[in-house]
Amino acid sequence: MTRATIPKTGTRPFVAVGYGTRPQVIKVARLLPALRERWDTLTIDTGQHYDYELNALLYDQLQVPRPDVLLGVGSAPRDEQLALIERACGAVLRQRRPAAMVVIGDTNSTLACARAARDAGIPVVHVEAGLRSDVAAMAEEMNRVEVDRLSAMLCAPSRLAMAALEREGLAGRACRTGDVALDALRFALSRGLRAPREWPLAGGDAYAFATLHRAELTDDPRLLSIAIEALAALPLPVVLALHPRTRGRLAALGLQGPGRGSLHCVTALGYLEALAAVQGASVVVTDSGGVQREAYWMGIPCVTLRRETEWVETVSLGANRLVDPGRAATELPAAVEAMQAAPRAWDRGSYGSGDAALMMANAMADLPALRYPLSPA
Ligand code: UD1
Repeated sequence: MTRATIPKTGTRPFVAVGYGTRPQVIKVARLLPALRERWDTLTIDTGQHYDYELNALLYDQLQVPRPDVLLGVGSAPRDEQLALIERACGAVLRQRRPAAMVVIGDTNSTLACARAARDAGIPVVHVEAGLRSDVAAMAEEMNRVEVDRLSAMLCAPSRLAMAALEREGLAGRACRTGDVALDALRFALSRGLRAPREWPLAGGDAYAFATLHRAELTDDPRLLSIAIEALAALPLPVVLALHPRTRGRLAALGLQGPGRGSLHCVTALGYLEALAAVQGASVVVTDSGGVQREAYWMGIPCVTLRRETEWVETVSLGANRLVDPGRAATELPAAVEAMQAAPRAWDRGSYGSGDAALMMANAMADLPALRYPLSPA
């Protein structure tokens, strides 16, 4: 899509941006400046992740302005959380009437804000559209499929995401923009990464950097125990940055604390510190979508403790290998060894070139509701 002409005069329409989790705050940090070039914005943080480590630290570090509206919903079972966010976000949207609503990814916040906008007659723009794990029962898959169906504009991060949208008959609303997580990484690299303050190893030691946070793993005591024991048995030191959910589950299982073989646990890191930890690692072990791509972009081999990934290009290009968490005891050591030895010269261009936020804003300028002057209500 082409850049629309922006008249110099007239009232600027405003765009709402709904989000609420760690990876979404990171992406909002780059989306907001691009949107604000053209429109005013109304930021709505649902409070889905209310933990300081996960969100407030990121706001500060990435200089994301405090949200205009903080819904403060906190944790709840999926249906309850969806209903709470939808109701609270709907009330804001009906009162403020933004011209469009931008949502990111596949969280409960994504779906609930999108439903609220649809019900208020406000066009939805979905960032990270077209990703599929093809596991229909997974909450994130349900969220992203429904959001894609109800959105007016779909911003796909990759060729394969575009192809998925085409298969589902949604190509007419889709455009390939690249991945705004790469914009965030580029920006962070240009500003400089930060060495984590709490680091259990001596400088220069080779290590694996690990993150685990997905509910399918952390909420299954058997799988979580297997994964932790497999990390602890690796032949190199492992630094595991603990998401608060994971920390809580490990404490309940009595699995936290020093002295577990190779494993060293640290508090969840800030974004700039997490990137530095990835960049300095010999190998990354994760179940995070964001960390998989960051390792891919930075040329660090990755082992993903999942049976599938939405970021399939990282696997087919040889940057990432999947290990079923239930088989981690037997398969993780070989996968880590193979990935450490593998060539690192993979193509890094699957998710665009780091200008996704600008591409999205350009595409959004074609939405009738966002053209200047304001279209009649
Ligand atoms: C996934 C889900 C998303 C869900 C989120 C919950 C997909 C496609 N999306 O995103 O629906 O809301 O999990 O968290 O699976 N990072 C830090 N500090 C750390 C570790 C990581 O800042 O200690 C950064 C990473 O550098 C990365 C981001 O956090 O930029 C990744 O966030 P993460 O919470 O792992 O979410 P995702 O798996 O990307």
